[in-house]
Amino acid sequence: MKAVERIKKPIRTEMELFESKFRNAMHTHVPLLNRIMNYIVHRKGKQMRPMFVFLTAKMVSNGGFDERTYRGAAIVELIHTATLVHDDVVDDSNMRRGFFSINALWKNKIAVLVGDFLLSKGVLLSVDNGDFDLLKIISRAVREMSEGELLQIEKARRLDITEAIYFDIIRQKTATLIGSCTAIGAASVGASQEVVDDMWNFGETIGLAFQIKDDLFDYSDEKIGKPTGIDIKEQKMTLPLIYTLNNCSEAEKKWLINSVKNHNTDKQRVKEVIDFVKKSGGLEYTFQQMKSHQEKALQMLQKFPESEYRTALEDMINYVVDRPI
Ligand code: IPE
Ligand code: IPE
Ligand code: MG
Ligand code: MG
Repeated sequence: MKAVERIKKPIRTEMELFESKFRNAMHTHVPLLNRIMNYIVHRKGKQMRPMFVFLTAKMVSNGGFDERTYRGAAIVELIHTATLVHDDVVDDSNMRRGFFSINALWKNKIAVLVGDFLLSKGVLLSVDNGDFDLLKIISRAVREMSEGELLQIEKARRLDITEAIYFDIIRQKTATLIGSCTAIGAASVGASQEVVDDMWNFGETIGLAFQIKDDLFDYSDEKIGKPTGIDIKEQKMTLPLIYTLNNCSEAEKKWLINSVKNHNTDKQRVKEVIDFVKKSGGLEYTFQQMKSHQEKALQMLQKFPESEYRTALEDMINYVVDRPI
């Protein structure tokens, strides 16, 4: 059985029901918006965030389930989709999930409003059902995501990023949302605050590995349904480059910074930078960092009793690191 099939097995019915609930949550009477919502639901992503919500809920309650869990899963996927629509505007990226991005088809103006619409739908789904504990968790993630994206832009302007700042950025822009998935999964079935906090930390740890994997993809030529090789163009300094900058001569460092600063749109020069990073062991180092977060996350699950849900979460952690897209 393929990894994803195995992971989905204990939550198959939930994932099927989720589809229609997610779709309903995007309802609108505005025809243009409705067309765009249709476009979005037909090009769904991996849906890893709802999977994290469901698996965590089941693990902590030993299979028990709640209608709140479905709403929690829909909220995180709505917010995630909103941030991707905005992210493609911010990163000026024309491809998402193997198709044109919203900004590529409808331009930035519409993409910004579509992102806001999705965000408001997520918030309303919580408010209308009185899920204030879940809303509190997700709101923190939304704030952190905006802060993380802005910190990243600030560092791209100044080009003075350190490894510690890189981890701050990826924690904020990606890991907190995954942390909120696992926290919401636990909170939705009435877990204690201690368990909710533990699950938040667990999700955050996976989230760090998740973004490191995404940053490694950018250095590869693999077909992942979105552009690769755009981080340097966007002056985004990720771990492979940061490591290389910290482990080369002064002259090489000058050349690297100058390349990112003044030649970031020159395809040939960007390729030379990528080759230099590869030659310097930047990818190996980054890979090791990803592995150590994977190990840490696996370790964190050990305090829960063995169950098919725990095993599926372990598979999920491994999938984050081994996934093809
Ligand atoms: C992409 O997330 C954004 C990042 C945090 C790197 P996913 O890779 O989960 O995106 P989809 O939903 O499967 O397209
Ligand atoms: C991660 O940002 C996604 C968000 C925080 C919204 P990236 O810009 O690194 O993600 P991709 O590679 O475009 O999916
Ligand atoms: Mg981005
Ligand atoms: Mg992007």
